[in-house]
Amino acid sequence: MTETATDLRSDLASFPTARDPECPFDPPAEYADLREQEGTPSLACPVGVNARVVSRYADVRAALADPNLSSHAAPSTHVVPGGLLDRPVAPGSLLNMDGAGHARLRRLLTPEFTVKRIQALRPYVQGLVDDHLDALLEHGGPVDLVEHFALPIPSLVICELLGVDYGDRDRFQEQTAVLIGTNSDPAALEQANLEVVGFMTQLVLTKLAAPGDDLLGRLIVRAGENGQELSVEELVTLGITLLIAGHETTANMIGLSTLALLRQPDQLAALRADPGLAGTAVDEMLRYLSIVQFGVLRQATGDVTVGDETIKAGEWLVAALSAGNRDESVFPDPDRIDLRRGATAHLAFGYGIHQCLGQQLARVELQEVFVRLHQRIPTLRLAVPFEDVEFKNDALVYGVRALPVTWDEEDNR
Ligand code: HEM
Repeated sequence: MTETATDLRSDLASFPTARDPECPFDPPAEYADLREQEGTPSLACPVGVNARVVSRYADVRAALADPNLSSHAAPSTHVVPGGLLDRPVAPGSLLNMDGAGHARLRRLLTPEFTVKRIQALRPYVQGLVDDHLDALLEHGGPVDLVEHFALPIPSLVICELLGVDYGDRDRFQEQTAVLIGTNSDPAALEQANLEVVGFMTQLVLTKLAAPGDDLLGRLIVRAGENGQELSVEELVTLGITLLIAGHETTANMIGLSTLALLRQPDQLAALRADPGLAGTAVDEMLRYLSIVQFGVLRQATGDVTVGDETIKAGEWLVAALSAGNRDESVFPDPDRIDLRRGATAHLAFGYGIHQCLGQQLARVELQEVFVRLHQRIPTLRLAVPFEDVEFKNDALVYGVRALPVTWDEEDNR
């Protein structure tokens, strides 16, 4: 009998989700064993399906480049018990679309994320980072770097990108903080969700009435010129996708990479001495931390070849990005941070048609943070014992819940 998504066999090992608390920056230890094993083992996922788990770098790339894979389930739902795998996909939900429908939206959006367009945002990002550092220094330590720095910066960058009015940004930021906060209670979450959808709908209607020179405005004009008018629902879903995808990931990277670097003083000193290192440093930290921690879920719509094996139509597949990023055949000594490594071909942004659309923007934000935070607060350090830092072990995007930091008085300049 062919194994399908629902033939959950009890004799299968479970998909590993637990990290060793002694090594909170390393993926679950079993991912290294998976890489060593022959083939692509089938594991039982918490969501209630068996999935073939692909863990070697070359196999992850080969699998994610295969057109016979569908993304209709959300990327990391395999680790959510009782998660919805077969729900209808909302129009505009880029991450869950396949084939021509996905290509159409992606083509319309791509001009917004070219290197040139994103570089033009760099001065805005620099100003934002500096303003937040001014406020931190003024406030004085100890302070939670997540709340006061890591969360607001990506949020305000998305506001700028989408063309949210300055007067609305505080409200927008408050709502999205609740929406992506892992400590939010269900009622507050539901309310924030309603408000963000309401807010985005209003924004889209305003842009449709008078498209401005911002992402949504240009997208509306471009779609019209191509005879590809986007519906209000598509535009709202796209706007919310950009908001969540771009905000939560970057915020977690800022918090987690700051902590990881504070634990590697030699690497941090090298970065401080040579800000030109920021480019490779950011990619190395993306590789090393691989914050989309459980990888991405797909379902085969036709036969998919991975190594010597065939994954058959109907089977589920997990591409374990963090496992591929620690593959020593591609990244020698992979468990070590080496800011000069030049790891640009890492898998932290995924691979194939869904590879992160916002990766250049994420890089610019992280580069500006890496340079300015450590230049302006050279004595930055944890304000609590390392053991007291709480990690988001079960969240789809890995990070720290809070990062209490402090610094010496003389940094206040
Ligand atoms: C450190 C920051 C980031 C990380 C680690 C990250 C990671 C990822 C990953 C792994 C995917 C692929 C998901 C899949 O294959 O199912 C993805 C897709 C995506 N990301 Fe990012 N991302 C980051 C920042 C951003 C930013 C700043 C934006 C936008 C402003 C963004 C927008 C998107 C979008 C729209 C997609 C879907 C692309 C598609 O389906 O064609 N991301 N991201």
